[in-house]
Formats: sequence, structure tokens, C-alpha cells
Amino acid sequence: MGDNHTVQTVQLAAVEKSYGRERAVAPIDLTIDPGSFVTILGPSGCGKTTLLRLIAGLEEPDGGEIQLGGVMVYSRLGGVAIPPEKRGIGLIFQSYALWPHMTVERNVTLALKEQKLPAAQIEDRLLHALKMVQMDEYRHRFPSELSGGQQQRVAVARLIAMRSTILLMDEPLSNLDAMLRTDMRTEMKRLHNQLEATTVYVTHDQVEALTLSDKIVVMNKGVVQQHATPFEIYHHPANLFVAEFIGDPRINLLDGRFWSDGDGHGVDLGFVKLPLDRLPDGAADKVTAAVRPEAVKVYLKKTQGCLEVKLEIAQPTGSETILFTRIGDVELTAITPGFVPMEAGRPLWLGIKGETLNFFDPETGNRLDHASA
Ligand SMILES: Nc1ncnc2c1ncn2[C@@H]1O[C@H](COP(=O)(O)OP(=O)(O)OP(=O)(O)O)[C@@H](O)[C@H]1O
Ligand SMILES: [Mg+2]
Repeated sequence: MGDNHTVQTVQLAAVEKSYGRERAVAPIDLTIDPGSFVTILGPSGCGKTTLLRLIAGLEEPDGGEIQLGGVMVYSRLGGVAIPPEKRGIGLIFQSYALWPHMTVERNVTLALKEQKLPAAQIEDRLLHALKMVQMDEYRHRFPSELSGGQQQRVAVARLIAMRSTILLMDEPLSNLDAMLRTDMRTEMKRLHNQLEATTVYVTHDQVEALTLSDKIVVMNKGVVQQHATPFEIYHHPANLFVAEFIGDPRINLLDGRFWSDGDGHGVDLGFVKLPLDRLPDGAADKVTAAVRPEAVKVYLKKTQGCLEVKLEIAQPTGSETILFTRIGDVELTAITPGFVPMEAGRPLWLGIKGETLNFFDPETGNRLDHASA
């Protein structure tokens, strides 16, 4: 391993880890395509950092196998356990560990010097990396002379300079302020396109996950809930956990029942009966229907085929306005484009189309297969 220009696959087979009686990571099978950017997304404590540490070799699994670039680096049964420094990976962790007694420059170049790269090449990489994180003016400072966010950027620079073929990053942007975070997000993506390294990126920030990833792995309680493209995760969540975890404002969940009679078939949401081209396979009697707020069309005037609702709260965010509405007992969130000031209590007309709905089994939470979904 370590050939700087070969992209590498990351493969996990039945990898698991418990701390005492607590299962941090349930047996996981995961294949990450060479050169892709994969995000591990989930709430605090769901096992994201543990999973990354297992791949890095900083934590020993209780079972399973890990292969990096086709090389077995861990196998419980095969008795293989290659130490982290021999796995050919670049790491950056939640707590950005810089050496406190070394300047920015030395922190970034240390590993390069150990690799015995020519001095000119080291200088090139240093300048390039520091520039990318906008820290080129700080090369002679010590970590204690930098803010938390600046230290984190140095850690990112060190990673850039290493040119590893596999990058593992644990919330590398978490200490940055909102603006810098957005800039760095774009940089991360650009960086990935340039370096062509297989990247496993941990975050609990869904925007980061949706914007950066080729694929997202959504985890909850140590279990992978879905591993798919951002589009798939957003539009066809595998279960109610994923549906609710992704999307801000949250997806609307509505209790419904499927109907089927001489007129055709569809779903009855109580306040409206919507026709469907086809009922999902395994359609139970009761169903949870989910619709994203932006899929709900908003009209300010009475409109044919739309529902009249009462506006409870309008929240303009600038580029769009979030509308919290109510119809009887049911709350419905909608989004309308633009900054639209509106008075609470006024009527609105909402249009929902059957084909924009996802259906879930209310018992198991799993998505029901749906032809138009
Ligand atoms: N060294 C440890 N000893 C005991 N329990 C641990 C240890 N490390 C993690 N855990 C537990 O394992 C579970 C998963 O932790 P992990 O750090 O992987 O979560 P995470 O998804 O990274 O969360 P966060 O988003 O807060 O960083 C948690 O319940 C945590 O308390
Ligand atoms: Mg963590």
C-alpha cells in the first residue's frame, strides 16, 4: 500500500465493536468504492467515531474483517491486525491533535520529512496546503497561538499535504464558525476532486453530508440504516428514522389508509383522499405517508383541487419561507420560494400529489415499495 496514485477500496465485513455491554457498532458490511467520498451520518453516540477508529486501526474490532485497497488489515479469524501507521491512511479527528511544541509548518511537514521527500517538494506541498485552508500567514505560529478553528484548519492542511490514498475525517469542520464552515465545505469537495483519495467523512451535519457525498451511510444506535446516494436518501429514505433525520424543516408524516374501490385506488389521509397509480407492494391497512415540505405546493388564493389550511407561523429564511399550517388536528409544513411575509391565521391552499409521497409501515418503520417512488 501507499502508492500515491492508486485509489483504494475500503471494505468491511461483519465488523463489530462493543464497549462492555454496550454495542457501539453492530456487525457492519460496508464497501466504499475507490476514490469516492462517503459520509457517515447519524446522531451523537450512534457509533460514527468508533467506526472510523476501527477502519484506522486505533480500535480493535470484536470480530469481522477489514480490507484497505484489497489488503487485509484486520481479520479476527485470520489473526491479522496491521497497526494504524502501516495502513497508509490520512487521519483527522474531532479533537484536532496538533503537536503543541511544534510550529504550524513543522506540524504539517513532519510526516513528509519522515517519508524523506525532497525539501523542495515538501515546501511546495506545505505552501499549497496552507493556502488551501487560508493559513499561509501562520506557518511560524505555535498551536497555542491559534484559535480552535485555526488549529483545525492546520490539521486539515496536514492531511492535504500527506496525499494519502485513503482519508478518514471525523467532523473536521466542527470547530469552525458558520461562514468558514461553508467555505471549507466547498474546499473539501474541491480537495477531494483534486486528490482522488477514497474519503470516509464523519459528520452529524446533514447539510455537509448531502452536499459533499457520493454516498451517505446513515447510522443509528450502531446500525446502518441506509447506504445510498444523497438523492436516494433524501427522496427515498429506507425507513422513518432516515426520513426524519434528513431534511430541514422536517418531513411531514401523516397517518393514512389505503383505499381501493370501483373508482380506483389511493391513500386516504383523513383530510384528503389522494389517488395513486399503484398501491405499494405489501400495503398494510394503516400506513404512514411522508411528504417533504417543498413538495407541498402553496397557493395564496382558493385553488381547485387544493386543501384549505390555516397558517400558524410563517418563517422567512431569506431564499424561502417556511409555513407551518394546520388542518384540523393535522400539522403540515410547506415551503414557498422567496421572502414572503404573511400574517398568522390567514388561509392558504395546499396541493399534495400522490406521487410525491413515500409510504412506511407504521409498525416496522420500513418504507413500502412504491412504483412511482
Ligand atoms: N472508549 C470507550 N469506552 C466506552 N464506551 C465508548 C468508548 N468510545 C465510545 N463509546 C460509546 O460507544 C458509543 C458510540 O460512540 P461514538 O464515539 O462512536 O459516537 P459518535 O457517533 O461518534 O458520536 P458523536 O457524534 O457524539 O461524536 C457511545 O455510546 C459511546 O458512549
Ligand atoms: Mg464522534
